[in-house]
Amino acid sequence: MKRIVLLGPPGVGKGTQAERISDKYGIPHISTGDIFRANMKQGTPLGKLAKEYIEKGLLVPDDVTCGMVWDRLAEEDCKAGYLLDGFPRTVYQAEQLDAHLKAVGQDPQDITVLNIQAPTQTLIERATGRRICKDCGKSYHTVYTPPKTEGICDVCGGELRIRPDDALETVQNRLKVYEDQTSPLIEYYRTTDRLADIDGCQAIDGVFGQICALLGEKP
Ligand code: AP5
Ligand code: MG
Repeated sequence: MKRIVLLGPPGVGKGTQAERISDKYGIPHISTGDIFRANMKQGTPLGKLAKEYIEKGLLVPDDVTCGMVWDRLAEEDCKAGYLLDGFPRTVYQAEQLDAHLKAVGQDPQDITVLNIQAPTQTLIERATGRRICKDCGKSYHTVYTPPKTEGICDVCGGELRIRPDDALETVQNRLKVYEDQTSPLIEYYRTTDRLADIDGCQAIDGVFGQICALLGEKP
């Protein structure tokens, strides 16, 4: 049973690794950022609220985010494990997650937190070079994972776009929010013996290799 949290700054490669981990270990990839963006695309009340924060590079309020995650964790496919990408992101969210897991009969100590880190310049380069398919959401990078035809998704032929919060100024805000509000989680999980450090400076396959060595071969 794998219950994993991916922790790390914007652009470090959480989503990229999450897809691979999810495929290899057969657990659902739960990205709070992706859920917010899907709601923004559909124009739901949650999407309208989230947009106000996301486009400024700020965090969506804790209670809104936690409620959304508890609903997702209650779904059938999470019974055999799950991978949280981008949640928790504040100490309050982490404390609430521990309390929630206890309340539903799961041991919070069973969580493995993968802390992926890379220098600021690398994060900026990765985030500003990212391109997303407007139709299927697949993610590319202009230099590291380019599509076969520039501007076109390999999978569905959709147009590739820049994520609105990947403008340089917004990325810089997100990095500051990460430093102030999310980086204290490293200590929170290290002192409770749940943290594993992953070197995010390596190429995508190298990072994945380090994660698999840590998690073991078996699902
Ligand atoms: P979210 O969508 O979670 O964004 P983020 O954490 O800022 O992280 P990113 O998705 O930008 O980066 P990533 O680490 O996934 O990197 P990726 O794999 O794409 O959140 C967005 C917003 O939603 C937040 O700002 C906030 O407003 C809100 N939100 C979300 N969760 C919340 C919460 N819990 N509470 C409150 N608000 C919340 O990689 C980036 C690029 O680099 C890609 O192009 C990729 O191809 C490339 N790349 C990846 N790895 C490598 C590598 N090893 N080498 C070379 N290139 C690489
Ligand atoms: Mg992501």
